Amino acid sequence: MNDLIETLKAAGQDALAAHLETLSGDARANLERDIASQDWMELKQLHAEKSTADLSKNVAGELRPMPWKIAEDDLRYDFWKETGEVVLGKGQVAAFLVAGGQGSRLGFEGPKGMFDIGLPSHKSLFQLQAERIKNLGAQVGHPIPWCIMTSPLNHKATVNFFEENAFFGMDRDDIRFFEQGTICALDPNGKAVLESEDHLALVPDGNGGCFRALAQSGTLAWLVEKGIRYLFLYSVDNALCRICDPAFIGALAADGHAISASKVVHKAGPQERVGIFAFQDGKPGVVEYSDLPDNFRDMTNADGSLTFDGGNIAVHLFKIEGLRKLQTSRLPWHTARKKVCGIENCWKFEQFLFDAFPLLGSMLPFGVVREEEFSPVKNAEGVDSPKTARVMIGKLHREWLEKAHVEVNPHKLYEISPSLSYAGEGLTRRLFERELGRGILEFDE
Ligand code: UD1
Repeated sequence: MNDLIETLKAAGQDALAAHLETLSGDARANLERDIASQDWMELKQLHAEKSTADLSKNVAGELRPMPWKIAEDDLRYDFWKETGEVVLGKGQVAAFLVAGGQGSRLGFEGPKGMFDIGLPSHKSLFQLQAERIKNLGAQVGHPIPWCIMTSPLNHKATVNFFEENAFFGMDRDDIRFFEQGTICALDPNGKAVLESEDHLALVPDGNGGCFRALAQSGTLAWLVEKGIRYLFLYSVDNALCRICDPAFIGALAADGHAISASKVVHKAGPQERVGIFAFQDGKPGVVEYSDLPDNFRDMTNADGSLTFDGGNIAVHLFKIEGLRKLQTSRLPWHTARKKVCGIENCWKFEQFLFDAFPLLGSMLPFGVVREEEFSPVKNAEGVDSPKTARVMIGKLHREWLEKAHVEVNPHKLYEISPSLSYAGEGLTRRLFERELGRGILEFDE
């Protein structure tokens, strides 16, 4: 306990140390627990670094776009798909969902994965994902383990939701939930902010905290023990995410060099709020939309296309040796100045998972078609909303049926249960007739 006081003093947190000394009983135990969860010397160093840095210069050094191509146009695509199916069939792939964010832009209280985007089935994002994972596992002949990272803000609600829904038919033992870490907000002078008398203002440490949390929670060891060699990492809000896409897995498995792979789409326009794939000082990675200077954002080629047009849809694949390396690597911290607990201009820190790429060295960009794989649900209305996701799913599934020579109403949209088809395969006229009104639902825009 004295150690805590000493640590706080050494880190310049004398006021917090003095406040702790005034508490007793449960209140003291609570605050001690919060304090013990933090690395105070790192916070001290971070504040010192960030308060002297020029925060307007988020991109340092030379920036070059990363070349990429649509994978389906490559002659090796079918080979990659088969390779991926074999790897999946050997039980060497797990899915990793990062779902610790707050979804504040959507205005939905609670874990974003519980959100119903208004499809006729009213399935939540979690359910759509679970059914897709289960179906693919059944097709390749091996269940796919699913790791779900939450944060202290939504852990209980997430686990309860899965329990109430009997894990959406998946085997409980194939799903592993764990919480990401938190980091204390600091006031403008670098002093810890208190949320209440006995609690620090702790905020999730960003989706880049996933590598630390994966290791510290014992999940990495669990995966290694299961013989997992590839981890498919994705965000909670992409309603079209092709989870554990065999072709994507096969492409990385067939590449002797790259440690990770990432899906890329053409940016919808310069203003789209997606990170872009680029080389920064020769190292591959992603530059976040908020960090990309306007002149790079708007830069065009001779034919008018965007120079930096490789959009990040937050779908990545890691070889397990890369994850081992990341356990001990230090990702950079990004900062935001925000009002916290009534104090203006506080420091909030977070790590971005794509900052792992420059540390790993070699990565494989895998181009995909937006209409097939990217429909993020970020805002309540307008772009990237539940409505745009419903329409994109409805059109894509109608196309799948048309390709299977099923006569559909061209003015209607369709929702095909992920339990019936993972990505358009296996659809027939007979199945359509049998399932219309059950696993296949017709709806209007
Ligand atoms: C993210 C990407 C952006 C990409 C876009 C595509 C990052 C930092 N940015 O942006 O480059 O173009 O998706 O949709 O990845 N999360 C946690 N813990 C946290 C914070 C977030 O698990 O502390 C999770 C969220 O639950 C979500 C994912 O990370 O599943 C993405 O986070 P979000 O804040 O929504 O990032 P975007 O701004 O959408």
